[in-house]
Amino acid sequence: MATGKWSLFADRFEARKPASEMTKLDAILDFFAFITISIGYIIQSIFYTIFGWPEKDLNGELCVITGGGGGLGRLLAMRLVRLGVKVILWDISQQGLDESKKIVDSMGGWCRSQIVDISKRQEVYKAAEDIKNQYGNVTLLINNAGVLSGRALLDTPDHLIERSFNVNVIAHFWTVKAFLPTMIEKDHGHIVTIASMAGHVGIAKLIDYCSTKFAAVGFDEALRLELEVMGIKNIHTSVICPYFIQATGMFDDVNSRWVNTLSSNDVADRIIEAVRKNEKMALIPWYFNIMLILKTIFPWGCTSGFLRRLVPDATPQHLLTTPVSTPSITKQEEMQFMNNNNHHVLNNNNNNNDKETTLIKRMAATIEGERVL
Ligand SMILES: NC(=O)c1ccc[n+]([C@@H]2O[C@H](COP(=O)([O-])OP(=O)(O)OC[C@H]3O[C@@H](n4cnc5c(N)ncnc54)[C@H](O)[C@@H]3O)[C@@H](O)[C@H]2O)c1
Repeated sequence: MATGKWSLFADRFEARKPASEMTKLDAILDFFAFITISIGYIIQSIFYTIFGWPEKDLNGELCVITGGGGGLGRLLAMRLVRLGVKVILWDISQQGLDESKKIVDSMGGWCRSQIVDISKRQEVYKAAEDIKNQYGNVTLLINNAGVLSGRALLDTPDHLIERSFNVNVIAHFWTVKAFLPTMIEKDHGHIVTIASMAGHVGIAKLIDYCSTKFAAVGFDEALRLELEVMGIKNIHTSVICPYFIQATGMFDDVNSRWVNTLSSNDVADRIIEAVRKNEKMALIPWYFNIMLILKTIFPWGCTSGFLRRLVPDATPQHLLTTPVSTPSITKQEEMQFMNNNNHHVLNNNNNNNDKETTLIKRMAATIEGERVL
């Protein structure tokens, strides 16, 4: 799904009158205009699919990549600088940022890095202002940072659910609000949302993650439509929905059957291709497009049977064995959890009289998912 020149012509024929002012003739003409325009889009799509979609030149763009301190963000930065893009990396991991910057610098690329916690609105606005003052207008925004709890709903502490929403989707509001105004001013820009296949299908033990990714997919689509309604033609949006990826850290050791997990390099290449072609949505691998159509046609039992076989257990194994301190559990409890990894209910040795129940303790004890991925 990419954009072609047809949209520049086609949108002129859209009736913009309010429904109350439309005569019957207006309505009939508008309907036929819609059909003709749609046929145009289909023909354009077939033409470009056969002869190749045009790819835009990214040389000279100024790009912010959130979560650029590792995983996909780093791989995207490496590819973008090769295309002449100046990249600014945001992350909460100084070590990750340093490593990314070192790699990109060694390639001769232009790279800056900033510690920015994108879940904090004011930090985002402040960092965006600094960029504008020092380096100019951001023209390519890649909302890539993401976190994963990877737990059954009742085992996921509330603050991890909030963290998932804050990082995986609510932060997109802050970054877009920070950079979109200058894109509109210059009538030039591209906003990329790294969502997931989990933004199209629900998976057990990923309820908070799936919810945020469904929201991210909706965010991208609604934003695109809003820009179109505003008559803005030269700011593009793309949403990228990969299946599980190897070697980025997030879902490395997830239990997946039937479909191989993806090479991180292949996914990064595909994302760059999607950006250069102004693709609206890229599902990776492509044949998941067919799966989504089937999902809407077949009975739920078929979908559920397929998904349960595809991902028998979505908790990445490393989350089961790596405890990470959180404000709500002590080191001693962490160690206890490690010793009793198979016994979910911990003894509450803490004799204080606060309201934490054993169940809450159990939930807290399983928050090695607090690890920032
Ligand atoms: N790995 C997969 O299998 C997979 C599959 C589909 C989609 N995705 C999505 O791709 C994106 C990149 O994932 P990845 O595999 O590279 O994961 P990753 O864990 O390697 O990278 C995520 C980065 O985001 C950073 N980050 C976390 N919280 C942050 C915050 N509050 N502010 C700024 N940075 C923060 C982390 O420090 C990390 O460097 C994510 O949005 C993820 O949901 C990943």
